[in-house]
Amino acid sequence: MSESLSHLTAIEAEARSAFEAAADEESLKAAKAKYLGRKSPLEAAFAEGIAKAPPAEKKAFGIAFNEAKKRLQEMVEAKERALSAATPAAGPALDVTLPAASRESAKITPLPRGRLHPITRIRRDVEQIFLSMGFGVLTGPEVEDDYHNFEALNIPKDHPARDMQDTFWLEDGRVLRTHTSPVQIRAMERFRPPIRTIAPGRCFRYEAVDATHENTFYQVEGLYVDKGVSVAHMVAVMETFLKAVFETDPKVRLRPGFFPFVEPGFELDMACVFCKGAGCSVCKQTGWIELMPCGLVHPNVLRAGRIDPAEWSGFAFGLGLNRLAMLKYGIDDIRLFLGGDLRFLERVG
Ligand code: DAH
Repeated sequence: MSESLSHLTAIEAEARSAFEAAADEESLKAAKAKYLGRKSPLEAAFAEGIAKAPPAEKKAFGIAFNEAKKRLQEMVEAKERALSAATPAAGPALDVTLPAASRESAKITPLPRGRLHPITRIRRDVEQIFLSMGFGVLTGPEVEDDYHNFEALNIPKDHPARDMQDTFWLEDGRVLRTHTSPVQIRAMERFRPPIRTIAPGRCFRYEAVDATHENTFYQVEGLYVDKGVSVAHMVAVMETFLKAVFETDPKVRLRPGFFPFVEPGFELDMACVFCKGAGCSVCKQTGWIELMPCGLVHPNVLRAGRIDPAEWSGFAFGLGLNRLAMLKYGIDDIRLFLGGDLRFLERVG
């Protein structure tokens, strides 16, 4: 080993014992400044040695210096970590038994929490229930053509039933759909029976708005087509549905109702879930709540969907989602849904 190299090694050994001896952060800092600072004996030994070394040994000497320096740096860092871990942190110890700071004292503004709109909530519930009964979920366009909104649903051009629905007409002859029933036709155009589907969506009518009427509202259409479908199947599906929505077992009854796309057509009522039929303000003292129009799909409607009424039959229903949400969440004014008042959403959500 050259003289320069042994000098380097000696300084390294000296530095090591100085670092080792440092008992606190203060003395380690001093030893570090002495042995790893810019004017350290190590740097001096290097400058001297590299100048003296024959050209063939310069490289090896440089590497030896770098390695020695690296070893010393690592040693200091390890010692620094060990000493600071042993030193207790400044300031009072953390008392984990103290109660949490209140929002006011901590000056935290609570973030407003987002909620689902009641229509979204009820729609998801309804979808879930029908999915569990083997139905699919379809959607259709909100801007509909006359054919799907009326014609194919057995409501010809001059039929008085067109007056039942106050329609927003577009200049090109299309309409803002007045109900979700056109999705029945679209379902039959797309799928062959058996068909089990629901179609939730937004509908529009040219209505004067009040506590029970809106020009923009939500329905869920239902369509079930198979062999030998009867009113009994329809009632069974509805009963299962109502049981799941209201988490009780409400009695239902059918009254005759007229809708061009069903024959026979009905209004399905359920025994008031609030007073159990005794009479209250929700059921207007009748004990019954009018829930949804429904019926067996009219043969003309099946034909419009290229389904042979001699072979297949079906039932359909049109559930008002606003009404269902009003009943389930105790909402007394339909205008609240689209009124944009956050207090309403917070109360119901
Ligand atoms: N589309 C009707 C409306 O909005 C509701 C309706 C009635 C739908 C009877 C149906 C049905 O599927 O069978 O007024």
